[in-house]
Amino acid sequence: MTIIVTGGAGFIGSNFIFHMRNAHPEYRIVCLDKLTYAGNLSTLAEVMDKPGFRFVKADICDRESVFALFAEERPDMVVNFAAESHVDRSIEDPGIFLKTNILGTQVLMDACREYGVARYHQVSTDEVYGDLPLDRPDLLFTEETPIRTSSPYSASKASADLLVMAYHRTFGLPATISRCSNNYGPFHFPEKLIPLMIINALADKPLPVYGQGLNVRDWLYVEDHCRAIDLILHKGRPGEVYNIGGNNEKRNIDIVKTIVRELGKPESLITFVADRKGHDLRYAIDATKIGTELGWQPETGFDEGIRKTIRWYLDHEDWWRTIISGEYQNYYAKMYGNR
Ligand code: NAD
Ligand code: TYD
Repeated sequence: MTIIVTGGAGFIGSNFIFHMRNAHPEYRIVCLDKLTYAGNLSTLAEVMDKPGFRFVKADICDRESVFALFAEERPDMVVNFAAESHVDRSIEDPGIFLKTNILGTQVLMDACREYGVARYHQVSTDEVYGDLPLDRPDLLFTEETPIRTSSPYSASKASADLLVMAYHRTFGLPATISRCSNNYGPFHFPEKLIPLMIINALADKPLPVYGQGLNVRDWLYVEDHCRAIDLILHKGRPGEVYNIGGNNEKRNIDIVKTIVRELGKPESLITFVADRKGHDLRYAIDATKIGTELGWQPETGFDEGIRKTIRWYLDHEDWWRTIISGEYQNYYAKMYGNR
């Protein structure tokens, strides 16, 4: 069994590679990644020279390279994590989001058709459903919730999902889609809420909370997400969408307060800054379908997951210090300098 994992030098893709090597040590895993600002080879250090693993630096939009890799590896399955993934960056510069997230998906699916790949899995997001009101806790996203996007990021992910469904129906591509809520855990890039707050708090820097911090996200520990994708690959039905969520709805402000408390830092570090444009209010997933059909449930509660995550950042300072010492400084100054 050979699986091509795209975007495997990023946050969730790398965790997925580690999960699959533990769960299925006999599988060959080929990671295809462009190594954008979000991809780090140091993340894959522990598997880099191991038998059964291969890393290839390439862009999923580069048809020639992608087809050449498929011709060489003849993969049985492809899991596509490669994407531009940060909403704030998509508001600054949407173009690359459309290119990578939509056209890159097309290239991968064309290669799957050409080489008769038995399963293409698209890693999507709950953000394709838009947002839910804060005062209706009874409402959750199901797989039937209409697509209604807010940001260039979510619009690009929704476009890719529609294309995947079209390739399934028109060409019979054996494809599945998962739509997941916000992940957290090891190797999360420090532009996202949880790692950004941990790293700033450790340096006693201000903790920039957008608006009043009342927006709600449904947090899922990354290992639970990886387990769900593994199940969908092996037992999910082609042509189906599966929602994956953590049953862990939290307001941003409460997340930040938990982090400062765990680190023994003062709440006075919390700074309210200008809100994100078009900021989605609330995401909440109904994961009944994957529970009933495939027997999946999230296993890591938030208290345990956030402690493990904070511990990981304390123990892996080299990893994040290297990242925040480079281009990240310019990004941070641009996004937060005059906010
Ligand atoms: P990430 O930004 O940490 O990693 C993305 C990876 O893709 C990086 O390694 C990057 O180098 C690579 N990449 C980017 N453009 C590429 C290209 N053109 N060709 C090849 N590789 C390219 O992202 P993440 O948080 O790990 O998210 C992975 C996937 O999961 C994305 O598709 C994202 O939309 C989806 N998702 C993420 C979350 C979340 O909470 N992080 C939630 C739901 C869905
Ligand atoms: P983020 O981690 O960017 O994920 P997403 O936008 O995909 O949900 O943001 C999570 C929430 O945290 C979102 O409501 C925006 C908010 N946020 C802040 O308040 N401050 C920050 O510095 C960041 C990065 C996010």
